Amino acid sequence: MSESDSKVPNKPPKTKPDFSRRGFLKGVGISGGVLSTGVLEPVAEAESTAKVDGPGAVPITLNINGKAHKLEVEPRVTLCDALRNRLEITAAKRVCDRGTCGACTVIINGKAVYSCTTLAIDAQGKRIETLEGFSTPAHPHAITKAFLDHDAEQCGYCTPGFVVAAKAFLDHTPNPTEADLKTGLGGNLCRCGTYMGIRKAVMQAAKEMKSAKVAKGTAHA
Ligand code: FES
Ligand code: FES
Repeated sequence: MSESDSKVPNKPPKTKPDFSRRGFLKGVGISGGVLSTGVLEPVAEAESTAKVDGPGAVPITLNINGKAHKLEVEPRVTLCDALRNRLEITAAKRVCDRGTCGACTVIINGKAVYSCTTLAIDAQGKRIETLEGFSTPAHPHAITKAFLDHDAEQCGYCTPGFVVAAKAFLDHTPNPTEADLKTGLGGNLCRCGTYMGIRKAVMQAAKEMKSAKVAKGTAHA
């Protein structure tokens, strides 16, 4: 992860750590910070020890689908916006923009993640996978094909996020039960209510992916 050369000036330590919204907002731009609820840093500690990037654009490099992308973004820019608005990698959709619907799902280091609540600057040095990386019109993934087979999409805003979440889920859970599936895809919402089709599609894809692995001799019990 890149770090800015600029440092927050040392300030006299406070006798009692306190918390502030300002401290939180500055913490968002701190290298290594995580955008999640409850991340309130004691002001004195955050200001005396951390390096701060921004507020202007800073150079970053993102490893997306096996390729390095160099760009400059303000530290406040989310991974979702960096992908869509700066790199034209648009499968991840910006729908709720608040970490509730899953339309923006990408895979980071093998784990399904909401890109709308992940800062682009914090995604550096990590392996980012988007739908474009494993399923294309010319070479659709088994999950994509199964979605078509089962009419598991209507408006399509949620669909890329579901396919990406399903990929991350099946990579870790190749033999899912229906209960596993409900839990595993529980972070994604479809406003059109295509859940039945989605579940059938993912179960079909699980079987096909397993058969393909058996054929290649790479399946695990
Ligand atoms: S757009 Fe990110 S969770 Fe809805
Ligand atoms: S198909 Fe998912 S929101 Fe419409």
